[in-house]
Amino acid sequence: MKTIHDFISLKPFSREELEAIMDLAETFEDIARGKKQSNLLAGKVLATLFYEPSTRTRLSFETAMLRLGGQVLSTVDAFRTSSAWKGESIADTVRTVQNYADAIVIRHPERGAAEVAAKYADVPVFNGGDDANEHPTQGILDLLTIRRERGTIDGLTIAMIGDNKHCRSNYSVADALAHYNARLILVNPPELSMRPEAVELVRSKGHLTVEETSDLPAALKQADVMYIVRVQKERYADPAEYERAKGLYKVDRAMLEAAGRPITVLHPMPRVDELAEDVDDYPGACYFRESFNGVLIRMALLSLVLGKAQLP
Ligand code: CP
Repeated sequence: MKTIHDFISLKPFSREELEAIMDLAETFEDIARGKKQSNLLAGKVLATLFYEPSTRTRLSFETAMLRLGGQVLSTVDAFRTSSAWKGESIADTVRTVQNYADAIVIRHPERGAAEVAAKYADVPVFNGGDDANEHPTQGILDLLTIRRERGTIDGLTIAMIGDNKHCRSNYSVADALAHYNARLILVNPPELSMRPEAVELVRSKGHLTVEETSDLPAALKQADVMYIVRVQKERYADPAEYERAKGLYKVDRAMLEAAGRPITVLHPMPRVDELAEDVDDYPGACYFRESFNGVLIRMALLSLVLGKAQLP
């Protein structure tokens, strides 16, 4: 089993390694809920460098660190509030921040930014999301959510609905699902298709079958799990193109009930208008539990990269 230094992508991880991380994550449940105290990461400091907005990723990393007895340094809106505003490069920023912290989480709008940070930093670096590329901690927390809600991943049909072109979470979820004998239905209008090379990479593992359709009701009739995301407004250079994409799909409770089967509903959030609020009390809705699972996964990953836990 490998030791983990940086966590930039799910691609280098095997199914066994992903499952071991999820198993470790579940051991932190009582600490994450504040029922037990922990000093596992006492004396350690995490720096969060966020060049894009975030609620869940930043705060769940930070609470994971705090609940494990560690400490946190935060930079939010980093293009304006860090020396990036004066023109400092990522390479120089992380070589500075490594003097203040034992690990770094970076979210940045440029593809590959986390890789650059990891190249220059001596301390472990987490990719908190880079452009429309990858969001690996989201991918594994969603895998854990499916496992916790359904008890298995093999054999499931997952309908991934919406902006499959621009949503980095979807790429990382597909990377995670690639190890399982399951079925992924990409549900999107043709202009929001996932990058073909990403689909081919997932298929090449030889486990997950991947299909694409724009027929949302038909996909729901086959789905065990629905993974829906908003149209990613911030990835559109042309506002008119965003306006055309916005509102192309929406799921409400009546549509889920018309599918005639119990569907587990995930959404990485934030939600805009693609998922109606009347789904919130649908029995399969689990998106707020999903955001809690992010704390468990980030606790596991922090304890692994900081040398306080080991994979079997
Ligand atoms: N899921 C997710 O990345 O949410 P935030 O943008 O709030 O971090």
